[in-house]
Amino acid sequence: MPDSDAFYSLLSTTRSIRRIKDTPIEKDVLERICQAAIWAPSGGNRQPWRLIVVQDQKLKEQLSALYVAEWDLYVDFNLKKLGQQPPEVLEKVRAQFGTGTDLAHGLANIPAVAIFVHDPSALYVTDAHLGRHPVVGGASLYPAVQNFLLAARAEGLGGVLTTLICSREKELRELLKFPEGWGVHAMVPFGYPKGQHGPLQRAPLSEMMSIDTWKS
Ligand SMILES: Cc1cc2nc3c(=O)[nH]c(=O)nc-3n(C[C@H](O)[C@H](O)[C@H](O)COP(=O)(O)O)c2cc1C
Repeated sequence: MPDSDAFYSLLSTTRSIRRIKDTPIEKDVLERICQAAIWAPSGGNRQPWRLIVVQDQKLKEQLSALYVAEWDLYVDFNLKKLGQQPPEVLEKVRAQFGTGTDLAHGLANIPAVAIFVHDPSALYVTDAHLGRHPVVGGASLYPAVQNFLLAARAEGLGGVLTTLICSREKELRELLKFPEGWGVHAMVPFGYPKGQHGPLQRAPLSEMMSIDTWKS
C-alpha cells in the first residue's frame, strides 16, 4: 500500500474516542504523540502553547468534577432547546449523550488527560478588528491538538478534543499551576480505545469545497 493510502486511512478514521481503557500509556508512545503536537505550525512559529499531561489520580478526579459540572449544563441546555417533549423523547436524546456522560464521570479512570494551555499575548489575531468574533488566534493552537490526536491514532490510541472545561480556567490554573494570564484551549482525555476507530460522518466534498468562487 502506498504511504498516502495509509495516511488517508488514518485521517478518515480519527474520530472522537470517549470510551477508553485504563491500560497505562507507555512512556515512549506518550513522548512520540507529544512530539507530533510540537511539530504543528503556529503564527510566526511562536509556539504560544504548552501541554500538561495529567496522570496523577487526585488531579484527574478534580478534573472530572469540573468537567462533569460543565457537561451536565451542556446536556441540560440541549434538552431545554427541544422545548416541550414527551419524557420518552427526552430520555432518548439524553441517551445520545451517553458516551459523553460516561467520559465525564469516568475521567479519573482514563490513564491520561492532556490539558493544552496558551499565552494569549503571543497569538497573532489578524481578524480582531473585523467586528465579528475573532477566530484566527486559535489557528496557532488547534493544529497542535489535531497533530496530537492523529499521532495518537497512528499509535493505536484514541482521544477526544473537548472544550467545555475551558470556562473553568481559574480552577484549572490553581490545580495545574500554569501562569497567570495563560488560558486553556483544550482538554484531551486519551488512551487505548474500548471500541473501534472510525468511520467518520462528514458532509460530502461537493458541499464543502468549490473552485474559484463560492458555490451555494
Ligand atoms: C472545538 C471542539 C470542541 C469540542 N468539545 C467537546 C466537548 O467538550 N466534549 C466532548 O465530548 N466532545 C467535544 N468535541 C468533539 C465533537 O463533539 C466531535 O468531534 C464531533 O461530534 C464529531 O465527532 P467525531 O470526532 O467522532 O467525528 C469537540 C470538538 C471540537 C472540534
